[in-house]
Amino acid sequence: MEQTKFLLDESQIPRRWYNVRADMPSAPQPVLHPGTGEPVGPEDLAPLFPMELILQEVSEEPEVPIPEEILDIYTLWRPTPLYRARRLEQAAGTRSRIFYKYEGVSPPGSHKPNTAVAQAFYNKKEGRTRLSTETGAGQWGSALAFACKLIGLECKVYMVRISYDQKPFRRSMIETWGAEIVASPSEDTQCGRAILEEFPDTPGSLGIAISEAVEDAAGRDDTSYSLGSVLNHVLLHQTVIGQEALAQMEMAGAFPDVVIGCVGGGSNFAGLAFPFIREKIAGREIDVLACEPAACPTLTRGLFAYDFGDTSKLTPLVPMHTLGHDFVPAPIHAGGLRYHGVAPLISQLVNDGLMRADAYLQSDVFAAAVLFAGSEGIIPAPESAHAIHGALEVAREADEAGEERTILFNLSGHGHFDMAAYDNYFAGKLEDVALDEEGIERALHAIEGLPTPA
Ligand SMILES: Cc1ncc(COP(=O)(O)O)c(C=O)c1O
Repeated sequence: MEQTKFLLDESQIPRRWYNVRADMPSAPQPVLHPGTGEPVGPEDLAPLFPMELILQEVSEEPEVPIPEEILDIYTLWRPTPLYRARRLEQAAGTRSRIFYKYEGVSPPGSHKPNTAVAQAFYNKKEGRTRLSTETGAGQWGSALAFACKLIGLECKVYMVRISYDQKPFRRSMIETWGAEIVASPSEDTQCGRAILEEFPDTPGSLGIAISEAVEDAAGRDDTSYSLGSVLNHVLLHQTVIGQEALAQMEMAGAFPDVVIGCVGGGSNFAGLAFPFIREKIAGREIDVLACEPAACPTLTRGLFAYDFGDTSKLTPLVPMHTLGHDFVPAPIHAGGLRYHGVAPLISQLVNDGLMRADAYLQSDVFAAAVLFAGSEGIIPAPESAHAIHGALEVAREADEAGEERTILFNLSGHGHFDMAAYDNYFAGKLEDVALDEEGIERALHAIEGLPTPA
């Protein structure tokens, strides 16, 4: 009998996070203060984040030790399993070998607690008692609520309106872990009220929810802001995924030709991919593919520019691929991928040709999700299903070329709270939206007058 799951022992949980900055051929460009145009310093970020996370944000050390207290909580679900998707291979009729790393075994159901626990830990250590955050699909909000509960912090979550309405049970989950939750835009912040006045029917966006959470934290001494993606320290915390996967692929006697993940802000993709990028920079040949929705094609069609991370321009200016900070993506069902920007580390690696990206329509993504559920059993989150579709596309192209590939993708979460999206798919009600040229024009307009990256 051939092996399906490749499992590590608890003692094999990585003891260090891997920092890709140490190995990147081009240093990422600095984040700028919007007022002065100068690089932001630790003191600019101190009202929002604890110092340990700020230091991780700018660290050039190749590895950062993981504190024992965080490792202890990681043991609740880590190491996560790596599967050989033999049944999916058969169902797709491919000659390629497909593996996937499954992050949906965490209590909230995705990769997000890998950083939520770390962020809650450092905040508690530095005396903050409350965290504010945004959530798109609800996965991040539930991960932070879970982490705050275990570590002993209060938590307030601003949930993008469309997801708040589509996913009532993510809300209940967040409340079960003791956090407060409101739909964003909300009446609880100045920027929320301003947006509601202008656009009372807006579905909301991650950009708007970030503005609200940042305003909340900036206005209170007891509160830090916590972001579930994009920032260097968040991507750093996720690298436990790829480090485990490297060991598990070795157990399987294989090494991937292609490494794939879905990209919202980029954290699960980076978490799997960065340890493999380290191998690529050291000389191994690996194709690293980021999968995004055609409705929010940040990497494939966005501009590489300095832009705000949020809609109300409260954040520093970030060098990244962007569709413009005021972009409100179509209300597709992969709520966690509806973000106008992406992690600067990923943008830089794409610019340097070490990673590439592709964009997919949601009906193709759901078809891949249903094929996966019917063969591997797991019902994937719509976000993660972008990576499944990407893997199947790579396998199909290899078959057409008469080649075989070893493919590894990240299954970032389960879709147990996304069944309304599946219902819509089965009822033929999913709309396929691809960004038009007007959307790109608008992005250009949004970044007009902002500094240009070198
Ligand atoms: C299951 C899942 N996958 C992926 C993402 C996208 O985020 P990121 O690109 O930071 O991994 C989300 C975001 O909410 C998510 O819930």
